[in-house]
Amino acid sequence: MQFPEGFLWGTATASYQIEGAVNEGGRGTSIWDTFSHTPGKVYRGDTGDIACDHYHRPEEDLDLMADLGLKAYRFSVAWPRIQPDGSGPPNQEGLDFYRRLVDGLRQRDIVPMLTLYHWDLPQALEDRGGWTNRDTSERFAEYTGFVYEALADTVPFWITLNEPWVASWLGHGYGLHAPGKQDAASALAATHHLLLGHGLALERMRSVGNPGDNQLGVTLNLHPALAARDRDADEEAARRVDGQANRLYLDPLFRGEYPEDIVSYYGGRGVDGPPVRDGDLEKISGPVDFLGINYYFRHHVRDAPDETPSQIPFSDLAVRPIVPHAGEKTAMGWPVEPDGLSEMLVRLKDEYTDAPIYVTENGRAVHDYADPNGDVKDEERISYLDSHFRAVHGAMEQGVDLRGYMVWSFLDNFEWAEGYSKRFGLVYVDYATQKRTPKSSARWYAGVIRRNGPDG
Ligand code: FCB
Repeated sequence: MQFPEGFLWGTATASYQIEGAVNEGGRGTSIWDTFSHTPGKVYRGDTGDIACDHYHRPEEDLDLMADLGLKAYRFSVAWPRIQPDGSGPPNQEGLDFYRRLVDGLRQRDIVPMLTLYHWDLPQALEDRGGWTNRDTSERFAEYTGFVYEALADTVPFWITLNEPWVASWLGHGYGLHAPGKQDAASALAATHHLLLGHGLALERMRSVGNPGDNQLGVTLNLHPALAARDRDADEEAARRVDGQANRLYLDPLFRGEYPEDIVSYYGGRGVDGPPVRDGDLEKISGPVDFLGINYYFRHHVRDAPDETPSQIPFSDLAVRPIVPHAGEKTAMGWPVEPDGLSEMLVRLKDEYTDAPIYVTENGRAVHDYADPNGDVKDEERISYLDSHFRAVHGAMEQGVDLRGYMVWSFLDNFEWAEGYSKRFGLVYVDYATQKRTPKSSARWYAGVIRRNGPDG
């Protein structure tokens, strides 16, 4: 099975999940430092203080990437390394760290793909309302300008936001992620200000100029939503979930409007909608050069009229997500559903955009362990990735313009509220010694990259 020439096979990580060194290099505090240090928020009280210690071992990690033959590497910049207090002039030490990383990638012929916001907002901005405050969108554009001026000459792919749904709803609606708010109006305000930040950041980057024909885009986590039972009420529940999880982001970005059904659903319950001002939607829907999609699973949902808003996602939509009994689940408890990815890719082409698409994350957690010989044999991850690669190949045969695929993740890392208990890496990390061991899947993936497609 061959992929097109030049297909960008890579892996992805995020700053807070791997870097550690939270008090070094002039870095300020982020909302994830605060959240992870708040008792009860993260499994076992884990924090990103040390994580994979990547900040101290970029060379070792770059060499590993080169061993795997990666064509691309997606990473994120920690905003508090660049602006420790969220505003004001950039911290040169922070910019230098990422310059060294990018130079190291270039020396190894690995294409850098940079994410500007993967959830580590400077705490100083949170203290002024964070993403519920419109000023944060402006601050984000200012920060973007500093990073772009420093690295635009050598980074060809720029992603403004990673998964605004997660930042908005897990962070502000359901309280499972930093900053831990539980209020739908805050989630809708955060949604709007994140998207506005994206629009302003695009404008800012384009105003700096485009040294190397750089590609600017945004990454959404998209999940097809399905009725769990053959009932009209479940179909409607699935429509509400599709509205909040997918259309609330796709519609403003590609059509310049918020989905009416979702805005009126919340409005009917006394919840303020996105705080839109004149001209915002034009900025938000400015053209992107590509769309990044992170795909993990489908939402299977039931109508649940008695549900009251809680920490359970979609509870405020009177919906109960379920995991189907049949079929394989990952160590996260997520169902393995490769067809959901091809479905979503075809839908994007049919309903939203002709822009090139990159899978900017896909992968699975496995209960990995090093065996007595020190090997980590993750056959489950290999079959998961193989089935998803085949699914996207099918979507490409239906005309989807998919240009690349970043496996989540390069290394095992700090999995947000799950701490270090969930391992997503192609490379195993022994956190006590920081020893890296490529798993069976890493060797297998290197072969996929060499052959430009899975075998057979
Ligand atoms: C995504 C995140 C990424 C990682 C994976 C498992 O939602 O973007 O950081 O945690 O899930």
